[in-house]
Amino acid sequence: MTTIGFIGAGMIGGTVARLSVAAGHHVVLSNSRGPETLKDLVAELGPLASAGTTEQAAEAGDIVVVSIPLKAYRSVPVAPLAGQTVIDTNNYYPERDGQIQRLDDKDVTTSGLLQEHLAGAHVVKVFNNIFFRHLASLDRTPGAEDRSALPISGDDEKAKAQVTEFLDSIGYDAVDVGSLADSWRHEPGTPCYGPPYGTFENPDGTPASADKIRAALAAAEK
Ligand SMILES: NC(=O)c1ccc[n+]([C@@H]2O[C@H](COP(=O)([O-])OP(=O)(O)OC[C@H]3O[C@@H](n4cnc5c(N)ncnc54)[C@H](OP(=O)(O)O)[C@@H]3O)[C@@H](O)[C@H]2O)c1
Repeated sequence: MTTIGFIGAGMIGGTVARLSVAAGHHVVLSNSRGPETLKDLVAELGPLASAGTTEQAAEAGDIVVVSIPLKAYRSVPVAPLAGQTVIDTNNYYPERDGQIQRLDDKDVTTSGLLQEHLAGAHVVKVFNNIFFRHLASLDRTPGAEDRSALPISGDDEKAKAQVTEFLDSIGYDAVDVGSLADSWRHEPGTPCYGPPYGTFENPDGTPASADKIRAALAAAEK
């Protein structure tokens, strides 16, 4: 039985939690305001779900999903995530996050920043390039002709394999982009960011095969 911890349980974190519970995983949710503010979501998700502090979610998870505004990344607890696989969904939006010089200079990727903060963890970037409503509706069983793929990047092969298995369990294929340094290929503004899965106007989204995602990744320009 796999437990997925969540640091951040908003649009993307909450959607991944719903998919996780539907696949039979336990989830432990957390946010910035405390577990009591998550009781409605926990009730909706049912007996596989609980809420805790960010430290408790980090400790409980076999995989821990960090899905918060990027500007808050330094508040993610470090010690309980040492050695853990950490999924990073985050994107850089200066109007929300403020200017971050190293990102503006393209010295580092957003997930590279989180990896520096969580030095002992194994960060894998995924879910950052898909609108949460499309993520909620494009999950398909293994082998389905219209199954969609998500790009994943990370420096640790075992962690990427663990995340690939998790994605498969919740209804998605994975396309391995490479290292965290390569993850700019699915950051905002690239062909892979958004369009392959359809438009905001259509909440059902459009399935995007692994080949479609590979082509979008190949077309990215730094
Ligand atoms: N929305 C999308 O479709 C989408 C798609 C792909 C990627 N993303 C990216 O994923 C990240 C999350 O986006 P979102 O749309 O899910 O945001 P959101 O709906 O605003 O949710 C953010 C969550 O993070 C929590 N949070 C904020 N600061 C925190 C902290 N210091 N410690 C713990 N939890 C904290 C919030 O809890 P409180 O309410 O208690 O503060 C909330 O649960 C962003 O980086 C975003 O760019 C979003």
